[in-house]
Amino acid sequence: MRWTRKDLLDLQSLSAEEIVTILDTAREFKAVGQRVIKKVPALRGKTVVNLFVEPSTRTRISFELAAQRLSADVINFTAEASSLKKGETLKDTARNLEALNTDFIVIRHSAAGAPHFLSRVLEAHVVNAGDGAHEHPTQGLLDVFTMREKKGRIAGLNVTILGDILYSRVARSNIWALQKLGARVTLCGPPTLVPQTFEPMGCRVTSHLAEAIADADVVNLLRIQHERQRKTMFPSLGEYTSLFGINRERLACMKPDVLIMHPGPINRGVEVDSDVADGSHSVILEQVTNGLAVRMAVLFLINGGKPFAAASPPAEPDLVAQ
Ligand code: CP
Repeated sequence: MRWTRKDLLDLQSLSAEEIVTILDTAREFKAVGQRVIKKVPALRGKTVVNLFVEPSTRTRISFELAAQRLSADVINFTAEASSLKKGETLKDTARNLEALNTDFIVIRHSAAGAPHFLSRVLEAHVVNAGDGAHEHPTQGLLDVFTMREKKGRIAGLNVTILGDILYSRVARSNIWALQKLGARVTLCGPPTLVPQTFEPMGCRVTSHLAEAIADADVVNLLRIQHERQRKTMFPSLGEYTSLFGINRERLACMKPDVLIMHPGPINRGVEVDSDVADGSHSVILEQVTNGLAVRMAVLFLINGGKPFAAASPPAEPDLVAQ
């Protein structure tokens, strides 16, 4: 397919075919990352600004490295040391960056919809690196990439997302991508963090951990997001861990080939024990590695790069209708 989008704002608006195109292209970029010379000239002469107005380790460094591997010039904007602190608006900040001939703005912001707003007022490409509790599209893509690489398919997989779903942009992006590609998604956690309102998205919603993990091919654990909770949504972290934390005993109740995933940062001893986070079922660091390839693919495609077709057909068709 021909890539026509200027921006990557969310996965809700992408078709299954567009998602698969990004995944196929990312597979090629992963191979580039395994070469002695890991750089390609695709974005030579272009400028990428990482406009992160919220903290980040993985996503910011991954976008920075992705842009460098594509030979772009990269600027990391530091919100704390910027004129945002003097009251300059996000729009004025972004338009001033554009006035410096910036080609891409990668934005993380606590306000849902901030990337969509910038995409309407800027000529530059806008990439959403996480907006409030709305979406984190490149995290959703790298999660699906990792599942597809490990399991050979997405269609028909049982994927359980466990934890703080209500406040999770990662959950929303995963749900959109997984549903479009034909996976069955179960959401599990305390009822206050996994409301029934997710059922219309086509997900199974449950607070019974044993039921949620027994038939899962993938368990994607989410961090309890203290920074987004305005009031306590469960009695204590200890109670959360005793009811929903994944430890060795609970891992033993899962399928023998289950994948344990987590977008990071991990609250060790809360949503997952170190035994499991660092164990043989965990692909948490592989997710980080794959994030680089996915972000290279996204920057490459929205810059007008020619998509890579699948080298070989997947074991089962991924292109399930939306
Ligand atoms: N997964 C993720 O978004 O991590 P960071 O907040 O460190 O970017």
